[in-house]
Amino acid sequence: MTDPTQPGRTRTTTGSAGPVRSGPAGYLVTGHTEARAALNDPRLSKDTAVFFAGKGSGRRLHPAVARTMLATDPPDHTRLRKLVTGAFTTGAVAALRPFIARVTGELLDRWPVGAPFDFVSGLAVPLPVAVICELLGVPEADRADVRRWSADLFASGAPDVIDSASSAIADYMTGLVAARRRSPGTALLDRLVAARDGSDRLSEQELVSLGVLLLVAGHETTTNTLGNALLALLRHPAELRRLRARPELVPGAVDELIRFDSAVSTATFRFTTEAVTLGGTEIPAGVPVLVAIGAANRDPERFPDPDRLDLDRDASAHLGFGHGIHRCLGAPLARAETEIALRAVLDRFPGIRLAVPAEQLTWRHTRLVRGLAALPVQVR
Ligand code: HEM
Repeated sequence: MTDPTQPGRTRTTTGSAGPVRSGPAGYLVTGHTEARAALNDPRLSKDTAVFFAGKGSGRRLHPAVARTMLATDPPDHTRLRKLVTGAFTTGAVAALRPFIARVTGELLDRWPVGAPFDFVSGLAVPLPVAVICELLGVPEADRADVRRWSADLFASGAPDVIDSASSAIADYMTGLVAARRRSPGTALLDRLVAARDGSDRLSEQELVSLGVLLLVAGHETTTNTLGNALLALLRHPAELRRLRARPELVPGAVDELIRFDSAVSTATFRFTTEAVTLGGTEIPAGVPVLVAIGAANRDPERFPDPDRLDLDRDASAHLGFGHGIHRCLGAPLARAETEIALRAVLDRFPGIRLAVPAEQLTWRHTRLVRGLAALPVQVR
């Protein structure tokens, strides 16, 4: 079968085992070429409000959570994204590196030597929470609440828990915006409040929902990336030794680690606004399309021997940060956190090892993210 998304390329897989499959919930895209094409296709809309209009999703998600920039199409998406891109450029992130290194060091100081210790609660959760809260301007005292709401939103999978966490975090952000308006500071949220009040570029609901999106997207994904990455290294001791001996390999290794075990296993909701042919499969108009990022990152046609962790591989074409106009805004920040944290752990604890057999680890599977509930390690 000729693949229409890539002229001249021939697929060997077809039907239910092909790169685009249909099921009761819509279409699932698993091939790398097809996933990349889907993420870049303007006929796949992210505007959930349009999709659910008149259908009723049966959910009571707060609008500040349901209607974020990640659930809009241009021109609204373009306008909203422009307001925040400056905070996430490589240069802006470089200014945050000393903060990231300091928090990492403080967290590692608390690790017990010789006794089992949970990497997830001891570093993978608190580091990204501290970083995104610092960037946005969320007071330290509120971070535990933020973490709880975000975990409920992403990882609980229970509709009632998700709906009530969505209201709690939206109410919190509404209050925080009001507080920053009364007494402004210099954090990203203050700049967004100024953008809202200084011109007509942002509605109040858009402002609150941008704050919520940054807060939530900014750490749950990084938490899971850190855990998945360390586990992959602990299960591949030769690669771990090589990385410890040559720390300059860490930036490239981060791409391979994200490819190997992608924290965002499925991209967020998309639907067809007209019939679309993808990977030889005709997808009708008006149906959901789920892009399986984790599967695409293990597509043997794009990454030979995909189930092997190979830190020498050029994995930069992975889709772990998405692709197209919704590609992860925080990728430079997420990379910086992952690089700094992994380097610090490997430097400080050369003898780090799993404290339980890998088969006993518990995973938090949800439709969107894949990560460990806990990662018990032991250091000498
Ligand atoms: C390793 C950690 C991270 C991973 C794996 C990740 C992954 C992703 C992916 C796959 C998407 C696209 C989703 C889609 O198209 O359906 C996305 C979008 C996004 N990410 Fe990340 N992310 C990470 C960290 C961060 C951080 C630290 C921030 C900082 C605030 C962030 C903010 C965002 C935002 C705002 C979007 C929406 C962009 C848009 O709609 O234009 N992410 N992320």
